[in-house]
Amino acid sequence: MFLKYDEIEFKFFDPNNEDLSNNYKKELEICEIFTKLIGDKHIFDLSLVNEDVEEIYLFLIEKAYKSEKEHHKFHKGIIKNADYQLTYELTDNVKKKIKIAFNKFIYDLFDGDLTIKYRLHSDYKWRTALSWPVHNYNSMLERRRINVDITFRCPLQCPRCQRTTSYSGKKVPGEDISIENFTKIAEYYNHICFCGQISDPCHHPKFIQLLQIAWENKCSVTVHHATGYKKMDWYKKAWAAHPEALWYFAIDGLPEESHKYRINQDGKHMYEILKESVNHLLVAPIWQYIVFKYNEDHIDEAMHMASSIGAIFNKVVSSRWSGPDDEFKPSKNNSLEAIYVNNSK
Ligand SMILES: C[S@@+](CC[C@H](N)C(=O)[O-])C[C@H]1O[C@@H](n2cnc3c(N)ncnc32)[C@H](O)[C@@H]1O
Ligand code: SF4
Repeated sequence: MFLKYDEIEFKFFDPNNEDLSNNYKKELEICEIFTKLIGDKHIFDLSLVNEDVEEIYLFLIEKAYKSEKEHHKFHKGIIKNADYQLTYELTDNVKKKIKIAFNKFIYDLFDGDLTIKYRLHSDYKWRTALSWPVHNYNSMLERRRINVDITFRCPLQCPRCQRTTSYSGKKVPGEDISIENFTKIAEYYNHICFCGQISDPCHHPKFIQLLQIAWENKCSVTVHHATGYKKMDWYKKAWAAHPEALWYFAIDGLPEESHKYRINQDGKHMYEILKESVNHLLVAPIWQYIVFKYNEDHIDEAMHMASSIGAIFNKVVSSRWSGPDDEFKPSKNNSLEAIYVNNSK
């Protein structure tokens, strides 16, 4: 059994993805109510189930769940409190305790047999990564995000990457960031984008430790990965180190043709990694597909493959061409110019 959250509503599904929400109306209702009460869509954190909390908080959740006769009255009371909160904020401590009690309750309710998955509607993919607990990303004053090249390493040779266009045959500048320097970043920033411009983050020798540090510092992260060179066990450790990371897997075309741009990549293996990641990450991973001439007729097929494994499909229209006759440039229909023209109509 798992619970999906897609920014719009909560739903329960069985392992075969069958929607069981109608059988769990009450459970869904308390999810909504307590989410509203603590003012944070990310109320689920099953790591809290072993923490101690005063009985009164457990009583509150149980009462909300069990009250049959005065069900609506009771719920109205809580919701009123939630609205009230807009003027009189619940203290962070109380919110924390409600959150612990809520997670304990929901865990017991399903005998621990519940996975919470944040399945996202593609339009909301950024919001999830950026709407992590504790940080208000909409406030300009609180927004602290960074995109960082944590290493200089990458074994691929994508033709339009700066590694190839500017540094071919030369040493790519930079170094592996130290744990000490990365910790400073994690302590200051609240969103870290592991993408960079000239490297692949998974090739930092201590990347799993960096993910762990980001997690401990409550930083939301995105990971942009294209090589697929690590063993499956390594990926499982990386996903466990920061289970809410939003991973982008670069597969430019159907898996068997992705290497045409991603030189030295095994696209089929990368697809297997993407598929497995769905079972480990709490945020649905992204299949990032840059449109090139060789793959522009396979977009629909890839999109279906992505949705069949629970990944989000992200079509990228590039502007990085060597000139009008670039061999990788797709037809006009899939070009940036076509998008500009359509949008300006
Ligand atoms: C230099 S890469 C670093 C991250 C990682 N190595 C990767 O390729 O995903 C930075 C971003 O550029 C994207 N990228 C690579 N080639 C591109 C192209 N020709 N057009 C647009 N984006 C491209 C990558 O997919 C990634 O999102
Ligand atoms: S995988 Fe990323 S960093 Fe590596 S060559 Fe390709 S675009 Fe550049």
